[in-house]
Amino acid sequence: MNDNVVIMDHPLIQHKLTILRDKRTGSKQFRELVSEIAMLMCYESTRDLPLMDVKVETPLMTTKAKALKGRKMAFVPILRAGLGMVEGVLSLIPAAKVGHIGMYRDPETHQPVDYYCKLPSDLPERDVFVLDPMLATGGSAIDAVASIKKHSPKRIKFLCIIAAPEGLKAFTEAHPDVPVYCAGLDEKLNDHAYILPGLGDAGDRIFGTK
Ligand code: PRP
Ligand code: URA
Repeated sequence: MNDNVVIMDHPLIQHKLTILRDKRTGSKQFRELVSEIAMLMCYESTRDLPLMDVKVETPLMTTKAKALKGRKMAFVPILRAGLGMVEGVLSLIPAAKVGHIGMYRDPETHQPVDYYCKLPSDLPERDVFVLDPMLATGGSAIDAVASIKKHSPKRIKFLCIIAAPEGLKAFTEAHPDVPVYCAGLDEKLNDHAYILPGLGDAGDRIFGTK
């Protein structure tokens, strides 16, 4: 396994992922779970944030403590399904800015088609976390990260809930400098480039379409 890939096998994440996969799980619960898993992924993927010493007055005395060292962040969901992860990550880092990249897969070729891109103007000052629940062929995430790199952010990390081995390989080859965090590494893609066993179409399940 590539050093730059973190599979998050925490029991809480694995339990929530199982309910997410279940075809009987409805949109309301699906959205809640995507949000909760995204929050836990945000917690893990920010483990290396730098700290600085500060002074704090407790009700009893003044003491030395730690605070985040002014790191600016941006979350960039890949539309649509990435939107489902935004609330969870913002619950931990409410001061982060949010950009959006719109992409859909051509149903015949499975190639990504981009239709929207709006990113914070001060990206060179920020660490960017790209959000998408599904890494299938890898095409959407590879193109999204390539677009973001043109804006010269400080660092990029990619957070996905389920990855296919094919997509993970393609992504880490295209962007070896971008760490990937995922909750589940599945078996393979089917003939329609859907992840097996997967969870179906993430966008449709989040938004109740289809
Ligand atoms: C899904 C998913 C990813 C992409 C992954 O989006 O949210 O963006 O497919 O597939 P890939 O790795 O093969 O590119 P989809 O194209 O279904 O669009 P939607 O979120 O608008 O439904
Ligand atoms: N997009 C999804 O939503 N699900 C898959 O399995 C593959 C791509």
